[in-house]
Amino acid sequence: MIKLGVLGVGDLTEKMIRGWHRASSDATFLLSPRSRARAESLARDIGCKLMRDNQEVADAADVVLIGVRPGQLDELAQEIRLKPDVPLISVVSGVPAGDLQRMFGARECTRAMLSLAAEINRSTVAIYPADSAMAPLLAALGNPVPLATEREFELATVGACMNGWFYFLLHDLQQWFVQKGFAPEDARQLVLSGVEDCVAYSRYKSSSEIGEIGSSIATAGTYTAQGLDVLQKLGANAAWQAACEHVFEQLTPKEHAHSNSNSNPRRE
Ligand SMILES: NC(=O)c1ccc[n+]([C@@H]2O[C@H](COP(=O)([O-])OP(=O)(O)OC[C@H]3O[C@@H](n4cnc5c(N)ncnc54)[C@H](OP(=O)(O)O)[C@@H]3O)[C@@H](O)[C@H]2O)c1
Repeated sequence: MIKLGVLGVGDLTEKMIRGWHRASSDATFLLSPRSRARAESLARDIGCKLMRDNQEVADAADVVLIGVRPGQLDELAQEIRLKPDVPLISVVSGVPAGDLQRMFGARECTRAMLSLAAEINRSTVAIYPADSAMAPLLAALGNPVPLATEREFELATVGACMNGWFYFLLHDLQQWFVQKGFAPEDARQLVLSGVEDCVAYSRYKSSSEIGEIGSSIATAGTYTAQGLDVLQKLGANAAWQAACEHVFEQLTPKEHAHSNSNSNPRRE
């Protein structure tokens, strides 16, 4: 049985722990006591072990999962001494594996990017490096997407942000129906079912481009085409692309500094 130590028992790692438990994973969870209320409820609900401090977690764990926010990493790294042969899993956005290895003195570091659907084993699970020994453990939380490069992993992080944005889009669409008089539950059902059938049909028609399926619906003169025209005039899709670019630039500052300097060559 693997002992999985969790440093940073937050929103995401809680969902991951509950997902592993739900999948009957062969793991025991050793929790940092810092987020006490959350850790205590996990201890109560699914028998996780609440440790005295972070060092006790690091000493007893076979694998350490780091789930703090990026700005909290330095403080955490100063608090603990990790055995070098203990593999790390990090869900911290935007921090390269090499930096984490240096900070924590770890030999192995796997980065994972998930969504809250890890709780029901339905998350996209981006994993870097692709051949990580931690992949089978992480795969229990949903659909594993092993990635060969860290650049691809940062792109997958943009995908995780899209996942968050979808909730706002779906909420706004639901609210439109509600404002028109639909009961909230019916509106929710209509919006979620619409997305589910779109996803299911896109998967079924795997040999077609997703855009081709859309074009086969939005033929000239249809209401779908009229609405699409409004969306395009208002730049709805362009706005999504701009949001993706913005996040990707934050995640890969070196790449963008380089391309910016290429596009703006200095005049000597
Ligand atoms: N939530 C998501 O949907 C999501 C998705 C993808 C990736 N991520 C990544 O996952 C990480 C966590 O995100 P989150 O939303 O779960 O954040 P969160 O809810 O704030 O969780 C972070 C937890 O770590 C605790 N912590 C901070 N410093 C600590 C320390 N030195 N020792 C022990 N625990 C410490 C925090 O406690 P305090 O509250 O006391 O500071 C907090 O409970 C982030 O790096 C984020 O980029 C999150």
